[in-house]
Amino acid sequence: MTSNPWDQAGEPNPLRALTPDQLRRRTSMKWRTHPADVLPLWVAEMDVPLARPVVRAVTEAMELGDTGYPVGTAYAEALAAFAAKRWGWDGLAVERTAIVPDVMLGVVEMLKLVTGPGDPVIVNPPVYPPFYQFVTHMDRRVVEAPLGPDLRIDLGVLEAVFRRAVAGGGRAAFLLCSPHNPTGTVHTAEELAAVAALAERYGVRVVADEIHAPVVTAPDARFVPYLGVPGAERGLSLMSASKGWNLAGLKAALAVAGPGAAADLARMPEEVGHGPSHIGVLAHTAALRDGTAWLDAVLAGLDENRRLLTGLLAERLPGVVHRAGEATYLAWLDCRALGLGDEPADVFLDRGRVALSSGVPFGSGGPGHVRLNLATSPEVLTEAVRRMAAALE
Ligand SMILES: Cc1ncc(COP(=O)(O)O)c(C=O)c1O
Repeated sequence: MTSNPWDQAGEPNPLRALTPDQLRRRTSMKWRTHPADVLPLWVAEMDVPLARPVVRAVTEAMELGDTGYPVGTAYAEALAAFAAKRWGWDGLAVERTAIVPDVMLGVVEMLKLVTGPGDPVIVNPPVYPPFYQFVTHMDRRVVEAPLGPDLRIDLGVLEAVFRRAVAGGGRAAFLLCSPHNPTGTVHTAEELAAVAALAERYGVRVVADEIHAPVVTAPDARFVPYLGVPGAERGLSLMSASKGWNLAGLKAALAVAGPGAAADLARMPEEVGHGPSHIGVLAHTAALRDGTAWLDAVLAGLDENRRLLTGLLAERLPGVVHRAGEATYLAWLDCRALGLGDEPADVFLDRGRVALSSGVPFGSGGPGHVRLNLATSPEVLTEAVRRMAAALE
């Protein structure tokens, strides 16, 4: 078995464990979309070696030739135990879960259960761009209920949009992003309970994308599972070890139903469960079951990076407005004062050789913004901000 750099003595921070040369050998989207002189701080992949339990689980499966189809509830059991320990939530019932190929395909399947073609799906922009693409592709209508200026859910706006969405008597769903990508906002228990109350009042079904739930980086913040708040019994959630443990290439996620949505989840066609990879299920299960020490080490490194970024921006790019989020490894940078137009990411790429995500596809509130991926070494982060500042000279 090859050695895992994070295991080698002396390096407690997985974000510092790999050299630029090692990272450049990667063949995933982050590393192969741009030329080699570009620092990639865009798509949500982390520059870390994998957690040892994940490597062990996948390696053992390879050595055994254990590469068949997935079966069983081990993934859901590992998530239930993680949820109880990490978030103090013991309401995740294994019998109300289903394995789905990944979070976005799970979102599509959940939306199919609770809406029909042409029905509205409400989102809170700026928000993860595939929310628009997948929802449109499945013949639903995206309706925006923008976040407030504090980058939190605006309950007044949400209520008005819910009211309009169901005015004709049709079905509607709210696709909640929790924690929120790209702002890193962790919704509070009070906010989520208010969302649940509004959803019940207007008959809107909530589908919560909770993929970033393990990635709460601020020490004083706490993730609250949507299905754990009062009134959310008819909600559906998508969870995964994918973001927390950097397993996007190992496809597997879980759909979780509240008690009042069990019958909906039971209607999900059996063949959807043929999509996830058995190796993915093994990897995600190992991460949730045995990968907590590694996760905590990454979260500590991300918290450092978050603070480092705040300092670097204040010093080198004071025109950029950044409200540091409490979760995710993504930073949402308001560059409108720099006078670079709607697409500052183009300028940072062309002149600075730093790849960031353009804010435009994130919907209303996106133009003039960029999203920066903090899940790299402090050295790369520092060099990226230096280059961004140089791009403006
Ligand atoms: C909010 C959100 N949902 C879903 C995904 C993608 O998840 P998956 O690859 O499991 O579809 C991401 C990836 O970054 C994300 O940020």
